[in-house]
Amino acid sequence: MTRLTTTAGAPIADNQNSLTAGERGPVLLEDYQLLEKLAHQNRERIPERVVHAKGWGAFGTFTVTNDITQYSSAKIFSQVGKQTELLARFSTVAGEAGAADHERDVRGFSVKFYTEEGNWDVVGNNTPVFFVRDAYKFPDFIHTQKRHPRTNLRSATAMWDFWSLSPEALHQVTILMSDRGLPVSPMHMDGFGSHTYSFYNAAGERFWVKFHFKNHQGHKHFTNAEGAEVIGRTREGYQEALFGTIESGDFPKWTLCVQVMPEMDAEKTPYNPFDLTKVWPHSDYPLIEVGVMELNRNADNYFAQIEQAAFSPSNKIPGIGFSPDKMLQARIFSYADAHRYRLGTHYEALPVNAPKCPVHHYHKDGNMNFFGQKTGAVDAYYEPNSVAGAAKEDPTVAEPPLRISGDAARYNHRIGNDDYSQPRALHDKVLSAEGRARLYSNIAEAMQGVPEEIVNRALGHFDQISKAYGDGIRAARAALAGAQQAAE
Ligand code: NDP
Ligand code: HEM
Repeated sequence: MTRLTTTAGAPIADNQNSLTAGERGPVLLEDYQLLEKLAHQNRERIPERVVHAKGWGAFGTFTVTNDITQYSSAKIFSQVGKQTELLARFSTVAGEAGAADHERDVRGFSVKFYTEEGNWDVVGNNTPVFFVRDAYKFPDFIHTQKRHPRTNLRSATAMWDFWSLSPEALHQVTILMSDRGLPVSPMHMDGFGSHTYSFYNAAGERFWVKFHFKNHQGHKHFTNAEGAEVIGRTREGYQEALFGTIESGDFPKWTLCVQVMPEMDAEKTPYNPFDLTKVWPHSDYPLIEVGVMELNRNADNYFAQIEQAAFSPSNKIPGIGFSPDKMLQARIFSYADAHRYRLGTHYEALPVNAPKCPVHHYHKDGNMNFFGQKTGAVDAYYEPNSVAGAAKEDPTVAEPPLRISGDAARYNHRIGNDDYSQPRALHDKVLSAEGRARLYSNIAEAMQGVPEEIVNRALGHFDQISKAYGDGIRAARAALAGAQQAAE
């Protein structure tokens, strides 16, 4: 028999009846187990993620299938056939932890690779670009996605007001409103690191790099009407699909590919390669295969392993670096700060976040420190020191120096950036006629109830992408209004 105990380990005789004064009598204060049960329950919830609160995740394996050691010395890529354990978490951005899965929204795509030289996290989305290019605007943008302070409802007016005043959002808005804005499941979407990162090789040469995860299951999407129908049946469609598929042994896969740009090319491209609202066209920088990610193990405890997972773009390993992308620079701060608030000081010591390689650092004490110190020696609690066995820095993993120059100023990022050409390529060349029609009607639906002045400002931008785009939305709005009148 597995004996029930208190948290202090003492066996419990009765877990059904509280301790009362007489059969009908009040409860005694000394019924400590009742008090503890209630107190624990009061502490079961932790703050949800401020964004990407609703998520689904699983463990898996990454296998290298192609040699990219000429670009990166990262040990994870050192040999074809090499395997690394990983954790993936997918999410929607705007909804709370209880939101329905099949809502139109950007999807988060986070992967934590437990490498032999530390955790490498790719914290991306299912889109290659983002709504804003300067982190100064991220909290404002997120406010438009969350609830209105008075109505406590989400506000289409706020969204379109912000987007129509921020033309850099047009590219991501076009993707969000296209078929790819509502995938059938996390297994039917691609992932993107989105930002430009960097690789450096053993000779110290740097390359700029973009990460792409191409799904093997095929792109599958729902229309808004199909999504609403699914939500009417289940609000947990993604959890059911991902958990059930992995449980059945049918393991979903993605091929990790990279686009690689030689360091000096960054000065030559017609677009800023560090601008998160832009892609690198495939014709200029083709995808290079790296390996395959397979998800093959469900979490045994959702809270401990998925809710407490802490992904951060700041988690990188030797051979992989950041880039000057100003959004990425802000994210390097933001995530670990969020984790300290959401999970606590030592969130990285939680089993799901703990690296699967030796960890040595000189951080000391702190709330809920259950590991003592990690310096390699009892007497070493400062550095430098002369204590035998104490952890020391390793200059061999230093990143090659990056040349940066410029005058400090607040440069207007809305001047000199072409916000229209890339969404135009998507609209004119990539989308099918049917895909464009669904794009127009999705935008028309999303604009319902938005004041005309804001709609017209937005339409002005869509016209600049392509007159056919603006006119397509106008026609879809007229058709929607007509259908609504007929229904009344
Ligand atoms: P390509 O024709 O080489 O590639 C088009 C890309 O668009 C493919 O990656 C395709 O994905 C993807 N795509 C197809 N439908 C949609 C959709 N509804 N929403 C988002 N992406 C979609 O063209 P370029 O590389 O020259 O890029 C042209 C435009 O395609 C870009 O301006 C951008 O909007 C979009 N795009 C480009 C990407 C890139 O990294 N270059 C990545 C994703 C989109 P798939 O092959 O899986 O079908
Ligand atoms: C989650 C901040 C832009 C993808 C989060 C969280 C914060 C945050 C604070 C919650 C973290 C946690 O509690 O664990 C920011 C800031 C951004 C930004 C400040 C811009 C400056 C982006 C971009 C992407 C992205 C551009 C994708 C390319 C994600 C994902 C998650 C997340 C996938 C969920 C991670 C998980 O699965 O746990 N973001 N974000 N974010 N963000 Fe961002």
